[in-house]
Amino acid sequence: MAAAISTLSILFMVWTIKAVDGAGIGISYGRAASNLPPPVQVAQVLAHSTTFDCVKLFDADPATVQAFANTYLAVDVTVPNDFVANLTDLRFAHKWVRTNIVPRVDDTNNARIFVGTEVISTANRSLVSSLVPAMQNLHTVLTSLSLQHRIKVASPQSLGVLSTSNPPSTGKFREGRVAEVMRPLRSFLRATGSPFTVNAHPFF
Ligand SMILES: *[C@@H]1O[C@H](CO)[C@@H](O)[C@H](O)[C@H]1NC(C)=O
Ligand SMILES: *[C@@H]1O[C@H](CO)[C@@H](O)[C@H](O)[C@H]1NC(C)=O
Repeated sequence: MAAAISTLSILFMVWTIKAVDGAGIGISYGRAASNLPPPVQVAQVLAHSTTFDCVKLFDADPATVQAFANTYLAVDVTVPNDFVANLTDLRFAHKWVRTNIVPRVDDTNNARIFVGTEVISTANRSLVSSLVPAMQNLHTVLTSLSLQHRIKVASPQSLGVLSTSNPPSTGKFREGRVAEVMRPLRSFLRATGSPFTVNAHPFF
C-alpha cells in the first residue's frame, strides 16, 4: 500500500475543482507510464486512503472508469484531441456516449466529460473549429438520455488563453483567434451550467 501511494504521488498532479454542488479537490490520473499499479488498486487507494473527491482521466478507458464503480469518487473522463473532430458528427457523438458513458452510468459517479486537452493552444484550425460543435453534440446526446444535469461537458484550456492573469482581477482572454472560439465556448458553458477549466501547472 505504501508503495502504491508513493507511486501515486509522483505520477499524479493534484487539481482543484469547483464541483457543481460545492468545492472539492481532485487528482489527475495519468496512465502514460510503465509499471503502473492496476486501476482497481489505484481506485481503492484514492477512495479509502486519501481525501480526494474526484479523479480526472486523460481518456475514457472503460476498465479504468469501471475501477471507480461503487466508490464515492466523481470521475471525469476526457475525449482525446484525435476524436474531437469526429464528435461534430451527431451519430458519432451518440455512439461515443453509448460506448463510454452509458455502460457505467448506474454504478459510477460520472461528473464531467472533458472535450480535448488545451485544444485552443494547439492552433490547429480544424481542431479548434470543431471544439464547440463537438461539445454541443455531446450535450445534445446527454440531454436525450436525461443526463445533462448530472454530467457536464467542459474543455480544459491552457493558461495561454489569457493575455493577462496577474493580478487576477485584471484577467483577460487573448484577442484574435483565441477570442473567436472563447466567445462561443463561454456561451456554451454558461447555457449548460458547465465550468470553465484551465490546466494550471505550478510545476510539471
Ligand atoms: C475520425 O475521423 C477521421 C477523419 O475523418 C477518420 O479517419 C477516423 O476513422 C474517425 N475515427 C473513428 C473512430 O470513427
Ligand atoms: C489538426 O486536427 C485534425 C483533426 O483532429 C487532424 O486530423 C490533423 O492531423 C491536425 N493537424 C495537425 C497539423 O496536427
